[in-house]
Amino acid sequence: MAKIEQFTEEYIKKESKDKELLFKDFLNSKEPYTSIFKNNPWLLPPDFRKPLDLNKGRYWNTTVGRKHPYWKTKKLPTPTKEIKQIRKDFKKWGYALIEEGMSKKQCKRFIRRLLDQAKGEELAGLKSMTPSGQYVHTLINKGDVFRGCIEQDISSVQAGLLIETFLNETLGEGWICHSFLANGSEKGYYPQVLHIDQSPLSPWITEEAPALVNTLYIPQDVNEVNGGTLIIPGSHKNIIKAGSNGEVGKLPPAINLEAKAGTIMLFDGRLLHGTGVNKTNKIRFVAAMSNVKSWMRTQENWVISVDPKIIKNASPKLLHRMGMQAATYGATIEGFGMGAAGKVDESHGNIKPFREAFDKGEYIRVGELSPKSSQRQLKKKYTLKAAIKSAKEGSPR
Ligand SMILES: [Fe+2]
Repeated sequence: MAKIEQFTEEYIKKESKDKELLFKDFLNSKEPYTSIFKNNPWLLPPDFRKPLDLNKGRYWNTTVGRKHPYWKTKKLPTPTKEIKQIRKDFKKWGYALIEEGMSKKQCKRFIRRLLDQAKGEELAGLKSMTPSGQYVHTLINKGDVFRGCIEQDISSVQAGLLIETFLNETLGEGWICHSFLANGSEKGYYPQVLHIDQSPLSPWITEEAPALVNTLYIPQDVNEVNGGTLIIPGSHKNIIKAGSNGEVGKLPPAINLEAKAGTIMLFDGRLLHGTGVNKTNKIRFVAAMSNVKSWMRTQENWVISVDPKIIKNASPKLLHRMGMQAATYGATIEGFGMGAAGKVDESHGNIKPFREAFDKGEYIRVGELSPKSSQRQLKKKYTLKAAIKSAKEGSPR
């Protein structure tokens, strides 16, 4: 084969000078973070090689809103059960607090299971440590209470219907669960770098609405002493200024979240936040269940990680939330799901048969075929064929 000069590495390299690259300035801008740190150096992360600087002037050395000199006169969100108030708070401040989102009993069940799991993982040599403290991942496999939260089942989370309604409204129906994990904050560790949860979309910034909405389960009281989540109220409005080649200007100070056990914080994927510093000897846990548009790649790869027993008994809603309901623009398998709308319990697009075949070691993929293929090859029990058949029949799960 003759060598074509224009296709060679040397030629392509020579013709790819930095200034010639398409969209380079935008894609490499690292916005919104470039302008955040340039205009607000107090937001720079701590030096993780040194003990934490506990002097004033850095974002983690703060207090709760009602005690903060800058914020105490402002009407920041307070816990409420009223959906209308939640909408107002979320729009204005980028977050809202659901009062008694979990009942006392639900909360107890949640924190007990979580603390036991955290200890168990430590004993099993599986403690997942971060610079802030221990994390417990993939909660769905670690207790029915967590499965219930993902489904917004009111037996696990009494404000389930309110949350679901709010997520349908803010993300559009068809949203799926991005991940559900517990974030620990422990004494002697570091605050998280303040970030927005829809960072993977950066430098694109969705101006009119978030592409991710987080639901933070707070199963124990949190405040400025035990590492209440750091937030900059209203910062989602500053962040969107970095869109269209703009930049984030000076930001107001951060505060610690103050909330009673059972509160659930709904927050905008564009709100600056991060784990706070715990000064007590007891670990502080909150659990973040973030949610994204149905076509987005989820943080947790549920299709592999969810326990087969949970898949077997999962409701259509739970399967959907785990991204196992393919649609034209997401999660298709061998093309199966194209043309589906991605609705709950839609037989076309249900990828559970693939996962079950995979678990049994019986997943047969369609590979190279031709008119010369043998009868044995043409007649193989392709999983795709079975999935199409069961979708046509609308067979029960
Ligand atoms: Fe986050």
